[in-house]
Amino acid sequence: MDIAERKTIRTIAVASGKGGVGKTNITANLAIGLSRMNNRVLVFDADLGLSNIDVILNLANKYNINHLFNGEKQLKDLIVEGPEGILVLPASSGIQELTELDEFQRLRLIEEFESYDNGIDYLLIDTSSGISSNVAFFCMAAQEIVIVTSAEPTAMTDAYALMKVLFTKYQEKNFKVLVNSVKNEREGTDVFRRLSTAAERFLSISLDYIGFIPLDSSVPNAVRQQRAFLDMYPDCEASKSILKITDRINSAENNNVKGTLQFFLGGLLKAKC
Ligand SMILES: Nc1ncnc2c1ncn2[C@@H]1O[C@H](COP(=O)(O)OP(=O)(O)O)[C@@H](O)[C@H]1O
Ligand SMILES: [Mg+2]
Repeated sequence: MDIAERKTIRTIAVASGKGGVGKTNITANLAIGLSRMNNRVLVFDADLGLSNIDVILNLANKYNINHLFNGEKQLKDLIVEGPEGILVLPASSGIQELTELDEFQRLRLIEEFESYDNGIDYLLIDTSSGISSNVAFFCMAAQEIVIVTSAEPTAMTDAYALMKVLFTKYQEKNFKVLVNSVKNEREGTDVFRRLSTAAERFLSISLDYIGFIPLDSSVPNAVRQQRAFLDMYPDCEASKSILKITDRINSAENNNVKGTLQFFLGGLLKAKC
């Protein structure tokens, strides 16, 4: 296919610094929301050492990314269908070596994505916690980065630290912020304001607020049943919020108009660290 004919794909990395702030749940539910808007969505579970999107969505995957790295399988063999037609590329749990991909594994991943015959509109990347080189690698490869934080000072500090590393090491200036598990809309705006004041003052970058999700017992309840909250509790507050955010993301102009999968691959190469 000619480059000009290739479909535009938006690649979005979901990252946070701190663990347990809701990245995986947000990624899974964003994917379902985007899928309902007639998008073909592929979720890449890039929490390579401690995967759990397959657990959250109760996916029966026979293979995981480790089978790709040891040459047994190709990308297309790994991808499984999740709820509402979303596609998921599962990681693998408990494989310590995968927490830091080596040069060979990164190249293999790039090669596999290159030959993957897709039709996808969105590639969502659920990254691991911490500020490892894997996290930086996937954030820099994606066109857009969604930083998830809660109102806890530790989550905010870690979100800021991650943005600082991506800015100082890779000159990344564009971050979308999503505030999770808040009491109300006001707390979400307040957390965003505090983060963006710090980012403006110390890094001279302005952040983009994409919304909040309230603390909602439907989220852990859905996790316990291994279902997405959007699917299981469509009218809960968390679902209403995620749909607003999905809508905002889907209707926003993609700044990177040349967003093909090849663009993502270019990013992966650039991000070799
Ligand atoms: N908005 C929310 N309200 C209530 N609980 C939440 C919310 N978001 C996430 N959680 C809970 O927080 C825990 C961690 O979420 P998870 O998505 O696994 O985080 P991460 O991927 O960042 O480690 C889960 O048990 C989930 O049920
Ligand atoms: Mg996670």
